[in-house]
Amino acid sequence: MSVSSSGSAAYSGSLEDSNAQRGLWSSRLAFILAATGSAVGLGNIWKFPYVTGENGGGAFVLVYLLCIAIIGIPIMMAEVMIGRRGGHSPVNSIKAIAQRDGLNPAWKLVGAVGILAGFLILSFYSVIGGWAISYVGTTASGQLSGQTADAVGAIFSGLLSNPGTLLLWHTVFMALVMLVVAKGVRSGLERAVSILMPALFVLLLIVVGYAMTTGHFGQAAAFLFQPDFSKLTTSGVLVALGHAFFTLSLGMAVMMAYGSYLPKKISIAKTSITVSVIDTGVALLAGLAIFPIVFANGLEPGAGPGLIFQTLPLAFGQMPMGSLFGTLFFVLLIFAAWTSGISLLEPIVEWLEEQKGMNRTVSTLGAGVVCWALGIASILSLNLWADFAPLGFIPMLEGKTIFDLLDFFTANILLPLGGLLVALMAGWVMSKPAMEKELALSPGTFNLWFVTVRFITPIAVGVVFIYNLM
Ligand code: TRP
Repeated sequence: MSVSSSGSAAYSGSLEDSNAQRGLWSSRLAFILAATGSAVGLGNIWKFPYVTGENGGGAFVLVYLLCIAIIGIPIMMAEVMIGRRGGHSPVNSIKAIAQRDGLNPAWKLVGAVGILAGFLILSFYSVIGGWAISYVGTTASGQLSGQTADAVGAIFSGLLSNPGTLLLWHTVFMALVMLVVAKGVRSGLERAVSILMPALFVLLLIVVGYAMTTGHFGQAAAFLFQPDFSKLTTSGVLVALGHAFFTLSLGMAVMMAYGSYLPKKISIAKTSITVSVIDTGVALLAGLAIFPIVFANGLEPGAGPGLIFQTLPLAFGQMPMGSLFGTLFFVLLIFAAWTSGISLLEPIVEWLEEQKGMNRTVSTLGAGVVCWALGIASILSLNLWADFAPLGFIPMLEGKTIFDLLDFFTANILLPLGGLLVALMAGWVMSKPAMEKELALSPGTFNLWFVTVRFITPIAVGVVFIYNLM
């Protein structure tokens, strides 16, 4: 199978023949692999545990799971459906549907939100990807074996305090992403996803197995799954909503782009549910791997973005063959982050190609280098600019560094906004018979989906936004 996004024909205005020109995923599995490659990434293993820890555990996890089920899956279906019906890159798919259903072409704003969000996310995502690269060396060298929590914490602080090292690994990560995007061919990667994702899953299981021996597994499970609503804040609900979008790669038209390659006979609902279940499973496993280690070592669940780098190395330092498993784990984590990073850069590169007529190499270089440069602001937020809170005068953004702001603005504002637009488009303006045909669900299930995107999603996103502004 090979889907070369560089091969997507320039928008020709005809909806009917577009898919024929672009090549399709060879199977349902190929689509699931690509979408899973985008969805499973640092969001699951790095971000989910630390935002869960910061927001008090169980109640936050419950809201996050509800957001996945009630908002995430329906929006993913809507994105894939719009992509498949449009048959082009997101902006042009929306244009094509707008022409056909007589909508306002301004709906292509959805694509614009996505391009901006992907670019901003990748700038800091790459910095965290760099941490993972750096930890391959840390684990492989064996310097973690038998270390105390303090020593492991010191290794992590040492990394953060060194802008030069952070810049080096950020550069390597960004270069890896740019390399694949510039080539425009992902067939090899999809095959790799089918081997490496299950491997990552198995390694997570191994760490969970170790975590069970710490004697604090029950405490961790209770922390994750026993909701204590007194710990849930309105901003926690916003973070849970934002994270549901972030972890499923929604709100940025990525699933729209992938959906445009999905053959017509494949069920959009089943594939969307499969991808979401895998993604959620990986996140929950990561939680079960990390929190027993947190409690066994008297660490702080709300330690923030460093959480996995302060806990997993302890496990690898203590378990049998820990250096080997640890090295493998971080290699696989880099891989998961890499496939996600590619899907973050792809939309802007595709847009530069189609709209600005640049060739793929030039557009990848241009977008990648600017994104890399923006990443430097996130690097400095970890050390030299750690006390610099540019928007600190806004109560909600008090104490947030540039890195925190980028994360907050993209995950909690831009992605839900992109998702809201998708829901409004599918729920209120697109042709209903055409959507019925595209989704091919039983009438009852279709109506359930339709009511969700028409009412539930917009109201939920709206309420969470309004509450947080107040
Ligand atoms: N979902 C990825 C993760 O959890 C991040 C990601 C990749 C993403 N592509 C995206 C997030 C598009 C939002 C939109 O790590």
